[in-house]
Amino acid sequence: MLPCEKSCPLPLNMYNAFFGFTQNPFNMSPDPAFFYRSVQHEEALANLIYGVQSRKGFILLTGEVGTGKTTMLECLRDFLSSQQIAFASLFNSRLTVDQFFEMLSYDLELRCNRHSKTEVLLSLNGMLLERASVGRTTVLIVDEAHNLEWDVLEEIRLLGNMENRRGKLLQIILAGQQELDRKMEAPEFRQLKQRIALRCTLRGFDFTETVAYVNSRMACAGIQEQTIIPLPLIKEIHHRSQGIPRLINAICDNLLLTSFAMETKVASLEMLDEVTGDMRLNYSQEPAFPVDDGFAERSFRRTRVP
Ligand SMILES: Nc1ncnc2c1ncn2[C@@H]1O[C@H](COP(=O)(O)OP(=O)(O)OP(=O)(O)O)[C@@H](O)[C@H]1O
Ligand SMILES: [Mg+2]
Repeated sequence: MLPCEKSCPLPLNMYNAFFGFTQNPFNMSPDPAFFYRSVQHEEALANLIYGVQSRKGFILLTGEVGTGKTTMLECLRDFLSSQQIAFASLFNSRLTVDQFFEMLSYDLELRCNRHSKTEVLLSLNGMLLERASVGRTTVLIVDEAHNLEWDVLEEIRLLGNMENRRGKLLQIILAGQQELDRKMEAPEFRQLKQRIALRCTLRGFDFTETVAYVNSRMACAGIQEQTIIPLPLIKEIHHRSQGIPRLINAICDNLLLTSFAMETKVASLEMLDEVTGDMRLNYSQEPAFPVDDGFAERSFRRTRVP
């Protein structure tokens, strides 16, 4: 008996074997292996890569909560590693200036006193120039950048000033929720705003993308041409999640769990009602189905979560 079998009565991926998945299709982690390349995601990733390769300096990636920013940064990190492009990535943006320089030097493995801003800056400058002299660039990725304090953002802006004749020495990607866009509009950020060379924005999926997304995740997890979540139900999932990938994942994961518990391999509208009710999801009362659809009539008759 495995140690965990004693403490957990049910295996963690309890429905995978029942449906025939090789892994959980709707995991919440930002796993690039599950990356679905919708047109907007593809374009945004291409922009990030272009911005880095052409040494544009500042690049902004913004989007609604749960639309895939962190997942995209993971894909970018994979790309940078494959190209041997050095990068530092900060995923906790609630930092003081001192902590910021400490983290930066740690990630870039700078050989200096990491507690001295002067030493970190000298060492960083040396590293960037050395890399630039052999045609290599360096990247700083800051996720959750909407949380950065003004003084840290100001230090990042100053780092963006380092350049040679061929372009910026440090490519800086600031990713965050839409507050970041709004923050840039404030007068104290006008210098930084002016330096942003590229902007990418992610939004929720449209209906066609939601269908492709759900099917693509299931295919990645081992089931091609799935029939567990029928098309009309995906339409309703799209409606209730507003096409936000994280919400789609949460709904689908719970839906599969409910189907498994009810020992059926096809999810139903009743199950979806239960799942979104438990999730306290707010969505418009208008059904996503045409009225002549039997599915829609059933959906109309049910009490919806306010
Ligand atoms: N294009 C995509 N392909 C595959 N999965 C995706 C995609 N976009 C988002 N997801 C999934 O949606 C969930 C949320 O994504 P992610 O954490 O990247 O969003 P986020 O924009 O960083 O959210 P937050 O604003 O809360 O930081 C993750 O489980 C991720 O796997
Ligand atoms: Mg994120």
